[in-house]
Amino acid sequence: MRLTGKVALVTGAAQGIGAAIARRFLDEGASVFLADVQADCAMDVPEGARAWFVRLDVTRESEWVAAFAEVRARAGRLDVLVNNAGVNIREPIERMTAANLDTMLAVNLKGPFLGIKHVLPLMRESGGGSIINMSSICGLVGHRFTPEAYTMVKGGLTLLTRSVGVRYAKENIRCNSVHPSTVETALVREVLKDPERRAERMGEVPLGRLATVDDVAAACVYLASDEAAFLNGISLPVDGGLTAG
Ligand SMILES: NC(=O)c1ccc[n+]([C@@H]2O[C@H](COP(=O)([O-])OP(=O)(O)OC[C@H]3O[C@@H](n4cnc5c(N)ncnc54)[C@H](O)[C@@H]3O)[C@@H](O)[C@H]2O)c1
Repeated sequence: MRLTGKVALVTGAAQGIGAAIARRFLDEGASVFLADVQADCAMDVPEGARAWFVRLDVTRESEWVAAFAEVRARAGRLDVLVNNAGVNIREPIERMTAANLDTMLAVNLKGPFLGIKHVLPLMRESGGGSIINMSSICGLVGHRFTPEAYTMVKGGLTLLTRSVGVRYAKENIRCNSVHPSTVETALVREVLKDPERRAERMGEVPLGRLATVDDVAAACVYLASDEAAFLNGISLPVDGGLTAG
């Protein structure tokens, strides 16, 4: 068990990548707060696991404050924050409305910013911690199949990660980002229904397949664990080599 004794909060944990991360964290012995704007969580919590569901809209600062108050009351500490919640409104820049752009910015960038702002005091009190931001290959390169707004917000998240990593390292707070290529979840289900587009997405990956939620969760377990004690400010691709070329 690689996360025994650690307390984690994962956003966007009701489904997809976030649910897989929460599940792996529980399997590795962590206590986990599953946070999501959705009221229901699809995940079956294993018998005897220390898991709590917290309703949290990451765009609302007051909800972050309330979520961390609940963490403090129930667990008294927090070692790991995974800023995983995200949305993608797939419109190219010329068709993107300002309202949709605001949503992209609010969920994908303001959300993690507010989460980090309010987790820092709690991690400081806990003697340090690991913050993991769910970026994307689109936070590393311009991806020809993905419109601009997603690339812009994920790129912002990559550099928010490095900025926090350098400033708070002296307090033993590490901050790293994870960069998956296409993972088959609700976020991309529509795209992957089209066999041509599915083939395109598989064809761009040197390892020749889509990423799985477990590939991404395994990277998060590593970054959350003490094995990654000297990893700070890194951008970890989980992309089968896509961004290496
Ligand atoms: N699926 C992919 O191909 C892929 C690739 C790279 C990165 N990512 C990133 O991984 C993360 C998870 O994506 P996924 O594929 O599991 O998507 P998903 O749509 O299956 O899950 C996203 C979760 O975030 C939650 N969420 C949305 N808005 C929220 C808000 N305001 N507050 C709290 N929770 C909110 C949703 O309710 C949902 O449970 C996202 O940040 C996404 O950008 C996904």
